[in-house]
Amino acid sequence: MKNKVTKAIFPVAGLGTRFLPATKSIPKEILCLVDRPLIQYAIDEAREAGIEEYIFVTSRGKGALEDYFDAAPQLEQSLKAKKKFDLLKVLNHSTMDSGEIAYVRQREALGLGHAVLCAERLIGDEPFAVILTDDVIAADKPCLKQMIEAHEQTGGNIVAAMEVPPSKASAYGLLDIKEDMGALVSVKGMVEKPEPEDAPSNLAVIGRYILTPGVMKNLRTQAAGAGGEIQLTDAIAKEIEKYDNVFGFRFDGQRYDCGSKAGFLQATVAFALARGDLSEEFMEFLIKMVDTRRAAQ
Ligand code: G1P
Repeated sequence: MKNKVTKAIFPVAGLGTRFLPATKSIPKEILCLVDRPLIQYAIDEAREAGIEEYIFVTSRGKGALEDYFDAAPQLEQSLKAKKKFDLLKVLNHSTMDSGEIAYVRQREALGLGHAVLCAERLIGDEPFAVILTDDVIAADKPCLKQMIEAHEQTGGNIVAAMEVPPSKASAYGLLDIKEDMGALVSVKGMVEKPEPEDAPSNLAVIGRYILTPGVMKNLRTQAAGAGGEIQLTDAIAKEIEKYDNVFGFRFDGQRYDCGSKAGFLQATVAFALARGDLSEEFMEFLIKMVDTRRAAQ
């Protein structure tokens, strides 16, 4: 079995109902933080981690995603003619080479585990990454790269992990910790969105995974779990029983839950403030805005 992780699955079939009406006509992965769509952040992170093949699990109505990564010859020509080379560079950054991206369709929304299983034939017998585009992680070293480095030491399965407030833990997959080694924790159980009284910890799974082909195999027969969906968490948990090879990884970085409106707004503000061309004006505006609101209270 190959050990290097060069393939990543991006489950992008979700309806994005939390962002209606915007997502009535555009995929939620095209929603922008400042001027880059969520999907671009995910692809950039994967590329920096050494990923060479990008597998999108899509659904009906996601055509805009395919177009986004395609060449745009008319636009290119017009930018060239106007000598707008900076913009041309920005444009080229979003274009993927032919054959780099593969698209598979998930015909029915049966859950994250099922979405990952849809990519089975393109993965084969090698470890692979899964990136959930809702989880945007700002970090000096991209989160997936940190995980791939950790994986070189541990092998097996690694999931990104982060402590969340206990009141919010039930919205996540949670880890039952066997041994806490700091950044790495070995895991003796995993449970998807448990009732608060059943939560094994408040160490939550965040949307970055490096998984063994065994997980894919488990998914083939995985019964529906939390929410009546086929859960990736459950298929990973089976590997603990079989091989005891599942780790949580506390990454360095700031995670934004861009699947929620509040998280999306926080990410927008943070990314805007981090931008040299925007920060000064934007910060001034924010301070004024906050002062005015406070004064009015
Ligand atoms: C998914 C996973 C869950 C994980 C979460 C991280 O849930 O099923 O285990 O904790 O992503 O964002 P979702 O948020 O898609 O319901």
